[in-house]
Amino acid sequence: MAKPRVFTSCEIDFAHATLQLLERSGYELIYRDPLPGWPDAQTRANLPGMQALLAGSERLAADTLDLADSLRIIARNGVGYDKVDLEECTRRGIMVTNTPGAMADAVADLAFALLLALVRQISVGDRFIKAGGYEVAMGEDLSAMTLGLVGCGRIGAEVVRRALGFKMRVLVCDPWVDPARLKEMGATPSGLDELLAQADAVTLHTPLTHENRDLVNARFLGAMKRGSYLINTARGGLVDEPALIAALRSGHLAGAGLDCQVSEPPKGVSLELVQLENVVATPHSGSKTLAARKRMALMAAQSIVDCLEGRVPEHLVNKEVLKRLGK
Ligand code: DGY
Repeated sequence: MAKPRVFTSCEIDFAHATLQLLERSGYELIYRDPLPGWPDAQTRANLPGMQALLAGSERLAADTLDLADSLRIIARNGVGYDKVDLEECTRRGIMVTNTPGAMADAVADLAFALLLALVRQISVGDRFIKAGGYEVAMGEDLSAMTLGLVGCGRIGAEVVRRALGFKMRVLVCDPWVDPARLKEMGATPSGLDELLAQADAVTLHTPLTHENRDLVNARFLGAMKRGSYLINTARGGLVDEPALIAALRSGHLAGAGLDCQVSEPPKGVSLELVQLENVVATPHSGSKTLAARKRMALMAAQSIVDCLEGRVPEHLVNKEVLKRLGK
């Protein structure tokens, strides 16, 4: 009998435990070159007959699923699944899983790296000194600042821990988290308007949904304190980029730290945004640490093995699919 086939474009060659798990379970792993463009010719040739996708950040909608006639699971190598058409997957009986928590430390670290880079003028100083200069604008003490989190899941909780370690005051707006839990963590539960009016830096830790696309629009930015900072390590689609450019150009915002943009790699408005002097940008590398990537790949592969061996994967996102599959 032919081995079940797993298709991936994720860099997982270093994730030995993952490769061993897939091999031990008798699956054939087929790599797609991380090419731009999806679905490209290589993908089109491989999707028919494929049982599992260990998916990066490709858009997975009906047009791609039409090619994947034997697909049983899309195991996202990451936590966000905004590029996956969940309804369509459920309708077709395809399980969708993610890897919650696996990258929480890595993303929280990057959120702080971006915040510190802005507040302590690290990239400005770096540019100056390399050009022979020795001047840099005055920075601020994190301990004198209030951090406002919009969203507080696993990554947000790690950001709160770090913020408290830096002696910051922490406000959190997240209607899905029990206020008592936030207080226990050392944060102050807050409404959005109150948070925007008080925070010296606002950091986004919410998944992208149809409801919150462009959440950070002109109204949101206008409600932020003059001279404050925006940090986005979540999704580019949460931000109305032309509005953010206007707020950064006018000086209403002192700076933005952006690990994600609307178009990745940045083109057009996204490129104009990341090129601003008061923006520190990284190429969607929040989860890019070896430990996080190994954990993510292993969790995703375990979901594939569970699904293909007839078990319900622990991190199943579209639970309604079970009814469709008669489980
Ligand atoms: C995630 O976990 O969703 C990250 O953005 C990496 O894909």
